Amino acid sequence: MTNNIFIIGGARPNFMKIAPLINEFKQQKIKFKFIHTGQHYDYNMSKIFLDNLGIPKPDYFLNVGSGTHALQTAKIMIEFDKVIITEKPRLVIVVGDVNSTIACALVAKKRSIEVAHIEAGLRSFDFKMPEEINRRLTDQISDYLFITERSGLQNLQKEGIDSSKIFFVGNVMIDNLINNIEEARKNNYFRNLGLLNGSYGIVTIHRPSNVDDKKDLEKVIEILNYIQSKIKIVFPIHPRTRKSLIKYNLEKELNKPNIVITEPLGYLEFLNLIINSKFILTDSGGIQEEASYLKIPILTLRNNTERPVTIEEGTNTLLGNDILKLKKHLGEILSDTYKKGKLIEMWDGKASQRITNIIIDKVLKN
Ligand code: UD1
Repeated sequence: MTNNIFIIGGARPNFMKIAPLINEFKQQKIKFKFIHTGQHYDYNMSKIFLDNLGIPKPDYFLNVGSGTHALQTAKIMIEFDKVIITEKPRLVIVVGDVNSTIACALVAKKRSIEVAHIEAGLRSFDFKMPEEINRRLTDQISDYLFITERSGLQNLQKEGIDSSKIFFVGNVMIDNLINNIEEARKNNYFRNLGLLNGSYGIVTIHRPSNVDDKKDLEKVIEILNYIQSKIKIVFPIHPRTRKSLIKYNLEKELNKPNIVITEPLGYLEFLNLIINSKFILTDSGGIQEEASYLKIPILTLRNNTERPVTIEEGTNTLLGNDILKLKKHLGEILSDTYKKGKLIEMWDGKASQRITNIIIDKVLKN
């Protein structure tokens, strides 16, 4: 067994979570290897984030690509197992809830290697979401569970996880936001799109429950149509959503002067758009947290969230796909009467530091 630590990244929402940890490891001179599974592979779903966030070139690129859940998960497992056999790492760190997270955790644990899960304990209680299955299973086999909000503690305890394995450390994605906000302020990307500060909303939609079926996607389009009748929107389109729009011949429905379509954006461009926006409409998980931290109103096109603190303390409201709720809350946002949000406990930019100190103490000193 070496003292080497593996950090796993594979899909877009992983990169902003591993970047601050990698920074901290470098500062504290902790040896690590970065394994990129290749779950996401397009330039603007992967490499642009590595470049924006100063993440080093992967030590191993597993090149698994897209496929069914079974195929993608299995491919990651087979390829990652080969690396584990060669390198025999001391600890494998996984983040979030994507297929790369569960696949790598499972392989490591079966080779008797300890697993740390960053962003553990979040629960939507919705087993139709692939992410909910990934989270629960990863938590069950992890040795160190780093949680971002208090709800995680109750969820994990109810599932029988020993409290000694659970650490409330805060939110690495907020660390990353804090580390990059000055740079993002400077790039003025929103002006390149011809937008004025506070005069537009941002839309990000990619969940299978909103885009895979024609009826659901038509409902999303109805919602966007209503919003664009009130205020300009910018819509960076995720590859899954683009595929569905083409499949159902719905692309033309978005051809409106008040809808600005872009390719998926890099981290710094997107953050610049967020900080200058009036509000966000999303079905993403992480953006609910980023918007809440920044106190930007956010309406979530889902019936549930695994991040309840963003509703209770932050600026998030769940809409489902209910157009009446949308009208009510958009009205509040546009008249500046929408809830303002509070500071969220432990979201202070120091989560990566806390995680690193715990790893030094519990893993590297033993
Ligand atoms: C995955 C995660 C989801 C996360 C999302 C962020 C799982 C189960 N889902 O969903 O939690 O919110 O990433 O993006 O892990 N594609 C490309 N280029 C790419 C990657 C994907 O064109 O670089 C296309 C492929 O056609 C693919 C589709 O997008 O079939 C979906 O990609 P996939 O990785 O299966 O899931 P996401 O929807 O991206």
